[in-house]
Amino acid sequence: MKRKSVFICVEGLDGCGKTTQTKLLVERLKKKGYDAIYTAEPSRGEIGSFIKKYCLHGGTRVSSIVEALLFAADRFEHVEKEVIPALNEGKLVVSDRYVYSSLAYQGAAGLDLKWIEKINEHAIRPDLAVFIDVEPETVIQRLKPKKSVMENLGTQRKVREVYVKFVEKGELVKIDGNNSKQEVADNILTVVLGFLEKTV
Ligand code: TMP
Repeated sequence: MKRKSVFICVEGLDGCGKTTQTKLLVERLKKKGYDAIYTAEPSRGEIGSFIKKYCLHGGTRVSSIVEALLFAADRFEHVEKEVIPALNEGKLVVSDRYVYSSLAYQGAAGLDLKWIEKINEHAIRPDLAVFIDVEPETVIQRLKPKKSVMENLGTQRKVREVYVKFVEKGELVKIDGNNSKQEVADNILTVVLGFLEKTV
């Protein structure tokens, strides 16, 4: 087993294939001998469960300040209880969403990105952040019936704009999510393996 304490996150719009791709990536990394684990935000913890019920599936959107604070609190617990312990055991941790989701979704709702960064100061930096890019119009077609308050064209368009800014700043590595599932998976794996080889 290859020991590597590396933290990777996968980001994207709702319905971009992120969860499928993150799980596939973990499976393929394991096959290559890496001790990789899948984790996600909102987390499986109590704050994560509360967020799902209160913020995402409550019918109407709550204040973006409340969202940002709750996601930051959930992230603190996720990092403390899951991510750091796994990294300390030499695992390669792959998170399905992380701090860029707060910057993109709560930033798109009008909050100052600097403030979002401030309340997420505790969140360790990922070593690599991947953005699966799919057009908002495409994800909205895929997301029928609608399941969460975020699943509307206006929100997804604004969210993508913020993600694209982070791609332009070089913080997120963009992967074209319009290709077949296999091609997207291959492209993500190539980026991740390239990164891992450089950071031996
Ligand atoms: P998903 O991970 O199943 O796609 O759903 C989580 C939803 O929560 C998604 O619409 C993005 C949203 N979200 C935020 O708004 N801010 C955050 O910080 C995180 C982690 C998720």
